[in-house]
Amino acid sequence: MKVAAGVARASERLASAGCESSRVDAEFLVAHVRGTTRSSVLVDGDQPLSDDAVAELEGLVARRERREPLAYVLGEWGFRRLTLKVDPRVLIPRPETEIVVERCLALISELDEPRVLDVGTGSGAIALAIVDEHPGARVTGIDASTDALDVARLNALNMGLAVEFVEWDLFTGLPADSWDLVVSNPPYVRPDEIELLEPEVRGWEPRAALVGEGATEAIARGAQAAMGVGGGLVLEVAEGDAGRVSGLLRELGYTDVQVTRDLSGRERVVEGVTTYDD
Ligand SMILES: C[S@@+](CC[C@H](N)C(=O)[O-])C[C@H]1O[C@@H](n2cnc3c(N)ncnc32)[C@H](O)[C@@H]1O
Repeated sequence: MKVAAGVARASERLASAGCESSRVDAEFLVAHVRGTTRSSVLVDGDQPLSDDAVAELEGLVARRERREPLAYVLGEWGFRRLTLKVDPRVLIPRPETEIVVERCLALISELDEPRVLDVGTGSGAIALAIVDEHPGARVTGIDASTDALDVARLNALNMGLAVEFVEWDLFTGLPADSWDLVVSNPPYVRPDEIELLEPEVRGWEPRAALVGEGATEAIARGAQAAMGVGGGLVLEVAEGDAGRVSGLLRELGYTDVQVTRDLSGRERVVEGVTTYDD
């Protein structure tokens, strides 16, 4: 079978299974079994696929047909400049979370060795991207899931990036330290919304990474208690929730509260600065 035929066949099967981006997914899967990039798949359409590649492709397409997310099927996913190992123990890092990192980097840009706490670190995406792009940053990632922390530690090891990962339940408060910045992409899906999500999300991603009632509020309060005056807080928020979270930060006494839009123009990131010690 040639590369182009492999893509076409995989794409048809994925479309029949209801996968929205069947063609793109098929290109990624064929690239994966060839050990090349997606763009080379597009130019190598006439090249043959080896028997081994065809057999491996069959297994991957079958997984994706069951609506397993493409990132889990590939076993890795791009986030800013990093390629992170991902599997069902962790949330797949999203493009809007890259904007969260963008805001963090802006807030710590003047500091040589900023202390940063990433709450609900998951795969370590935010923590690792900050160290990668601000090598002086000293970052701690906390998560209640030991499974997620195992993945985060593996990612740090694979990329040679130094981040401290600690098991911690955010509802007990946040670890006090001289943090310059607390950042979080907390679980923010309401329990009644979970069934409305795509099968890839509701069927495969960890429930604890999606649903966490009160997590945003707990982090906003905890960050204030854990940081000194002038510390920054950056939060990813659900679509439509930026106004409420901005109001919450103002009520708690944060200043310089501002909202940043993601690349699709949706208000997804809220930040503020602490004004007093708890
Ligand atoms: C939305 S995911 C974010 C993962 C990663 N930071 C990212 O942006 O891709 C939320 C994370 O919070 C963690 N989490 C959920 N409840 C928690 C709790 N009570 N204490 C600490 N972490 C928690 C989950 O295990 C999950 O890794």
